[in-house]
Amino acid sequence: MFARILIAVDGSEPSKKAFDKSVFLAQKCNSKLYVVHVVLDWEYGGDSAATFELIEELRAKGMELLEQCKKQALKSNLQVKTLLEQGDYAHEIIEVAKRKDCDLIMMGSRGMSPFKELLLGSVSLKVMHHASCPVMIVR
Ligand SMILES: Nc1ncnc2c1ncn2[C@@H]1O[C@H](COP(=O)(O)OP(=O)(O)OP(=O)(O)O)[C@@H](O)[C@H]1O
Ligand SMILES: [Mg+2]
Repeated sequence: MFARILIAVDGSEPSKKAFDKSVFLAQKCNSKLYVVHVVLDWEYGGDSAATFELIEELRAKGMELLEQCKKQALKSNLQVKTLLEQGDYAHEIIEVAKRKDCDLIMMGSRGMSPFKELLLGSVSLKVMHHASCPVMIVR
């Protein structure tokens, strides 16, 4: 059960919680763990030098986040692969899950957004609606 688990991380507290659970579950199920972080794409900021710089900064921060996750997973003796993607967050998460043939996607209920009135963020909601494998939302 769950040979390949995809965990989506954005650096938020809920996503850290989801990551810890994914490490736990991957250990229990002897799963390979894929960790994905998605950075916004050009189309959202225009074609300026400032956008280029912003994206480079986001990519560097994303790489750091993924490295931390990788270290933690390796400490737990897991097989782990990190992926840095660019584009629409939910779309990229769903596509990576398909590409890597993952049988479970894990994510936090909310992310970095300060607006917390709703139970689920837009990324977790969209992935739940459109993913072609089971999705576990961690609260
Ligand atoms: N850029 C991202 N890369 C990878 N995973 C992400 C990314 N953004 C969100 N996620 C995943 O989705 C979960 C829910 O975050 P989401 O962005 O949906 O909520 P939010 O930030 O509170 O609200 P919103 O972004 O809709 O304003 C996070 O805990 C994380 O697991
Ligand atoms: Mg968000």
